[in-house]
Amino acid sequence: MLKIGQQEAKAAAKVILSRNLIRFLERKAGQLSECAKFEREFSEKMGTKYALVVTSGTGALICSLAGLGIGPGDEVIVPAYTFMATPVAVLAVGAIPVIADIDESLMLDPADAEAKITSRTKAIIPVHMVGLASNMDGIVRVARKRGVKVLEDACQADGGSYGGKRLGSIGDVGAYSFNYYKNITCGEGGAVVTNDPTVYERAIIHHDPGTAFRSHRADLRIAPFTGLHFRMNEILAAVLRVQLRRVDGLLARLREQKARFVDALADTGLKLLPNNDPEGDCATVLALSFPSEKEARRYMSLLASEGVDSETPIDSDRHIYSNWDPILARRGSYHPALNAFARPENAASEVEYSEDMCPRTLDLLSRAVFIDLHPDSTAAAVRKKIDGCKRAADGLAAKQ
Ligand SMILES: Cc1ncc(COP(=O)(O)O)c(C=O)c1O
Repeated sequence: MLKIGQQEAKAAAKVILSRNLIRFLERKAGQLSECAKFEREFSEKMGTKYALVVTSGTGALICSLAGLGIGPGDEVIVPAYTFMATPVAVLAVGAIPVIADIDESLMLDPADAEAKITSRTKAIIPVHMVGLASNMDGIVRVARKRGVKVLEDACQADGGSYGGKRLGSIGDVGAYSFNYYKNITCGEGGAVVTNDPTVYERAIIHHDPGTAFRSHRADLRIAPFTGLHFRMNEILAAVLRVQLRRVDGLLARLREQKARFVDALADTGLKLLPNNDPEGDCATVLALSFPSEKEARRYMSLLASEGVDSETPIDSDRHIYSNWDPILARRGSYHPALNAFARPENAASEVEYSEDMCPRTLDLLSRAVFIDLHPDSTAAAVRKKIDGCKRAADGLAAKQ
């Protein structure tokens, strides 16, 4: 959702000219780095006590898992519909991803997540796909009942909300991506949010192998362990601060646009996908549901003949578990001894994968159609697209 311009260029140039390119330089008393300023502003916006900016959404997921203390011997439940980075992060900390079905909303089904819990389960990762919210009431209820943690993957839903709370701030920890395709972007980036000081401290330590030498070392209650390098730089943090100021306006324009589609299509017979929180939806897509894949594809081809682009999530490649071939083949690392699937601590895990293990997910994805919305679309372009959607719906009805 690239919305970037002069303000970001100015902010980046200011940092470059200052020559203070990395966050952990010694600065004058009271002077915060761009990264620290972004973290303060991001945690305020998300409504959490802590935020940590990192280099990617994958890094944010890994630091969140480290924050929760998850590792070999543990299982973590992930939805069958998410980008492969979600289960990859679980493998990166030595744990085993357990794949659960989605429900009609295309988000993780709380009932199937519960059914997949074993004595080894430490966390559930609901993923807010294409700006839509997961059923957080259902997931948090299951997690609290069964004593497991919730890590929200909000990488595709920066700024969205559920029940009036920002996505990512509802579970025990939340992860965001700021890569090129996301609602907020600096090219590549990510963030972790939490209210738990232990999760935060572990995440800070894990994201910076130099923690032992930093001035904030004195404030940590946990002795630094050897972390990895997910440190954000000052130039991109300055860009992110501008992007953060844009996000609510951008989502407001998308929501207003989506409302126009929803109103205009109300009596066409088209069915909107069930939505766990229509008000908090980022509205990056208009999501429709059809009785069969055949009808979904027929509607897409009618849309194409009207000049309206659409896609079905069943074609979204590495966002569907059946296309996660390195995972299905249990190739979890470059080195056999680092492969979580081969680790002795995970030997008792009975997790198995197959391409057809979640037929419900495949069926639901094959019957859904997404029409992308963009905040820069003019009123005329939106009207034209709506007319195209209506005519395609008429065409679909005529063929039935
Ligand atoms: C749902 C989801 N999780 C995690 C990620 C990983 O984010 P990044 O590409 O910033 O590492 C992505 C990125 O596309 C994603 O869509």
